[in-house]
Amino acid sequence: MKDGTENNFISVEMAPMEGITTAVYRSVYRKWFEGTDRMYTPFLVANQTHKFKTREKKEIGSCPPDLVPQILTDRAEHFVWALRELQKAGFCEVNLNAGCPSATVTTKKKGAGMLADINALRSFLDEVFIIKEREDLPEISVKTRVGVSSYSEAKEIADLYAAYPFSKVIVHPRIRDDLYNNTPSPDAFNIFYERIPNEILVFNGDLRTTEDVRKIREIFPGLSHIMVGRGLLADPFLPKRILRCEDTGGDVFSVDEKKTLLGFLEELYEEYERELSEGTAVLKMKDLWNFMEVSFPEQKKQLKAIRKSRSGSEYRMAVRSIFF
Ligand SMILES: Cc1cc2nc3c(=O)[nH]c(=O)nc-3n(C[C@H](O)[C@H](O)[C@H](O)COP(=O)(O)O)c2cc1C
Repeated sequence: MKDGTENNFISVEMAPMEGITTAVYRSVYRKWFEGTDRMYTPFLVANQTHKFKTREKKEIGSCPPDLVPQILTDRAEHFVWALRELQKAGFCEVNLNAGCPSATVTTKKKGAGMLADINALRSFLDEVFIIKEREDLPEISVKTRVGVSSYSEAKEIADLYAAYPFSKVIVHPRIRDDLYNNTPSPDAFNIFYERIPNEILVFNGDLRTTEDVRKIREIFPGLSHIMVGRGLLADPFLPKRILRCEDTGGDVFSVDEKKTLLGFLEELYEEYERELSEGTAVLKMKDLWNFMEVSFPEQKKQLKAIRKSRSGSEYRMAVRSIFF
């Protein structure tokens, strides 16, 4: 049981989001914004080929110091292969995905599907950590949901993680069957909070404002690590606001912030256009705008123009019309 000691330190991590928080997004984000301590790659697949795809190699890039690669797999031997490979590339931590709720992933017993059979997950972790004891390998963290079809599974899962020397346990307190519906469960998170040390426990889920973070830390006063995904996409200043305990007030963005945000979006588009084609770059930006729209509730017409844009110039004009 924890003593409930309050902790003023807070560390903010950027959540992995397949197709959105890409290497390009992360590198442009670092240039324009501050406040995140760590970022994760969207999941990279480790399978019997024992090869990363070209796209996955780009995700790993030149091993930025704040980056943790995330692996999706169902077999300990493939995970160990990835640990060795990523060790060679210079990484000191690798994250295991035990949270992806997509049916195509979970039916193969990967992602949140790993949680369906606790004995299989225990064997997986035994095999991995025994090898890690003998070899110099990166630290291992896990990003997990709290069950597959019932919150009553949380205790067994938390007990299991507590038995291994993870460097971080990131908990998204929803079950697989929730997908992204319902709200994250403080009761389920509490089960992990009671068993996993504060220094390695990370809360993830629906933190969209400084106020959301304040509320969750009121419930869990020892909590010092949080991970933000959709909230950061909608408001890239969120990590800085959280660190400074600042709320946005009425308007989401100040005039200066709008300038920064536009600069960021223009550079991000240019980088995507350089790396992909014009059409794909526009599609990538539209994917991002699906998450940013909530920050521009009054600009329905301009948002529609973004959604309908078919070329780079149409897209850019539509974006500028939001800011001026
Ligand atoms: C489009 C999308 C892609 C995601 N991709 C990944 C992924 O590759 N790996 C992962 O662990 N979680 C992934 N997630 C889950 C997020 O990392 C995060 O756990 C989830 O969005 C809840 O946090 P949030 O409420 O702060 O967004 C994804 C979520 C979304 C919406």
